[in-house]
Amino acid sequence: MAEKDLSNTAAHPLDPPTVAEIERATGLIAEAMGKAWTERAGFCSVALVEPGKAELSAFRQGDPVSRKLRFLGYDYPIEQPDGGFDAVVDLNTNDVAVSRITKGQAPIGFADVVNAVRIAKQDPHWQAAMRRRGIEDFENVQIDPWPASGYPHPSIPAGHRAHRCISFVREDKSDNGYARPVQGLIAHVDLTAGRVAHLEDHGDIPLPPESGRYDAASQPRLRDAPKPLSITQPEGVGFEVDGNAIAWQNWEFRVAMHPTNGLVLHQLGYRDGDQMRPILHRAALSEMIVPYGDTDPMHVWKHVLDAGEASIGNCANSLVLGCDCLGEIRYLDHVAVKPDGAARHVPNAICLHEEDNGILWKHHDGHSQTTEARRSRRLVVSSFHTVGNYEYGFYWYLYLDGSIEMEIKLTGIVGVSAVRDGKQRDEFAPLVAPNLASPVHQHLFCFRLDFDLDGQSNSVYELNTQAVPTGPGNPDGTAFRIRSDLLASESSARRCVDPARSRSWKVVNPARRNRLGGPVGYRLLPGPTPALLADPGSRVAARAGFSRYNLWVTRYDPGELCAAGDHPNLNPGGDGLPAWTADDRSVEDTDVVLWHTVGSTHLPRPEDWPVMPVEKCGFTLQPVGFFDRNPALDLPPAH
Ligand code: NI
Repeated sequence: MAEKDLSNTAAHPLDPPTVAEIERATGLIAEAMGKAWTERAGFCSVALVEPGKAELSAFRQGDPVSRKLRFLGYDYPIEQPDGGFDAVVDLNTNDVAVSRITKGQAPIGFADVVNAVRIAKQDPHWQAAMRRRGIEDFENVQIDPWPASGYPHPSIPAGHRAHRCISFVREDKSDNGYARPVQGLIAHVDLTAGRVAHLEDHGDIPLPPESGRYDAASQPRLRDAPKPLSITQPEGVGFEVDGNAIAWQNWEFRVAMHPTNGLVLHQLGYRDGDQMRPILHRAALSEMIVPYGDTDPMHVWKHVLDAGEASIGNCANSLVLGCDCLGEIRYLDHVAVKPDGAARHVPNAICLHEEDNGILWKHHDGHSQTTEARRSRRLVVSSFHTVGNYEYGFYWYLYLDGSIEMEIKLTGIVGVSAVRDGKQRDEFAPLVAPNLASPVHQHLFCFRLDFDLDGQSNSVYELNTQAVPTGPGNPDGTAFRIRSDLLASESSARRCVDPARSRSWKVVNPARRNRLGGPVGYRLLPGPTPALLADPGSRVAARAGFSRYNLWVTRYDPGELCAAGDHPNLNPGGDGLPAWTADDRSVEDTDVVLWHTVGSTHLPRPEDWPVMPVEKCGFTLQPVGFFDRNPALDLPPAH
């Protein structure tokens, strides 16, 4: 693939920030902050300030493009340490607006991680605790700095950046450190003060005996490889890529990577005859939470908001053809910001390809002995992200019948504890290897789905199936029906799944009717998903309030993108969805946004060790009366 010109000026208001834009903007911020910009200051993330809907719909190719970038970072003001800065640069006027983060902190940046590891390893008490455990070779100690979550140590002053550092021992650089957790030892690092504020030591438990290497060279034997499988498209791919604008079959949309929201689909619409019909204005992850259920002191505080705390979009992998992706692939890159303000280029961050997906529809007619069958094809838009020990893959699928699916793939290495022989607590942390246990935990992902179904005025209904009591109208007791309830306000729209009642939620445009007289609609079909298991009074419930329900509906507000608020790092909680819905706005026949939390409760098993086979969760969006009939009747038969 030819080297891309990364200095290109944006041609569309939703084009992601370019190298040239980022580096010009960071220069302007440093200049505007003057003396406050010291060598300790750094950038954590950059995002495009996405223009509002009116501006976007008025935009025509070739129009001047307004460009604003938003940067989060830290500069450690000496007098009164705070959460860092939140700066917006207008690239058309060179104006810089810097505000201070007073609740929560700028997200964790690369420099934080490096500094936390260095500070922990240099601490004499940490060194003494390691030596007491018989660990002398600090070079091969892997330190994972975790967000302090809702539990920064009380000796760390408010406004200081804080981490909890836990340790693992590697045999050498190539080893899997998670096989040998240093149980009981947590270094509470105050990054602002540059010291270990407190060393928590719960006593020694021996390192587990077994190595956890998962590379091919470490396996005793390898099975015969599967026969080669070639996926070729001799006439080329069926989709068009123009910058970040994608067209495939009847679908059109734009795609980009956002630091917190990861993979974002913008302006997704479906061509129906000669009409381009809008469906989703914007669809993306908004936040996620990984709460641990184990009461062990090594894990009880763990609940990470990986999207907002760790900037999951900036953790995107550079994808590799043949490994991550198979077939005819087109890639898009991502550009992030380094702590010093230089741009960081992530090649091949977004993968686009087509997949055969088996049968789309079929019928054999016995009378005429004829069979009609069509194959399903889907366009896959995906990315993979490494956050510490875990990997998350996000897959948007667009189908030929107007369906849309999000599939999340979870893999990587589970969290671990070292345990003494016979001392494991299986209900909280099942054994995955000798003397190695893995705590029960959840992964809950909140997706923000900004529907503009044939226009901006939409309503949301909850659909439940309901058994009808036996009686005069139902003498056989066989009847059941669809019950449809309008979710009229934000408080009535906090809902959980109910698979026994086939519960789903339907977005409609009351002003647009299909040929049968019903409003055009799309249905959100949840998967078999949990919600947050922790007590509603817990710190995690306060910090990740969004995850207490599988569905929220809000009235559209362009500033509401992240379900736990804009600054969830070290934030005591309450921000985001719970705060926005406190006024209980009406969500009837207006511009609505659906927030769907989906995920898995992970009960680790021996097969998850030493690296976990992909586990999946997700949801489907399905047209319901959006079209007048099966929209894929016009698909020609395959040969
Ligand atoms: Ni898990």
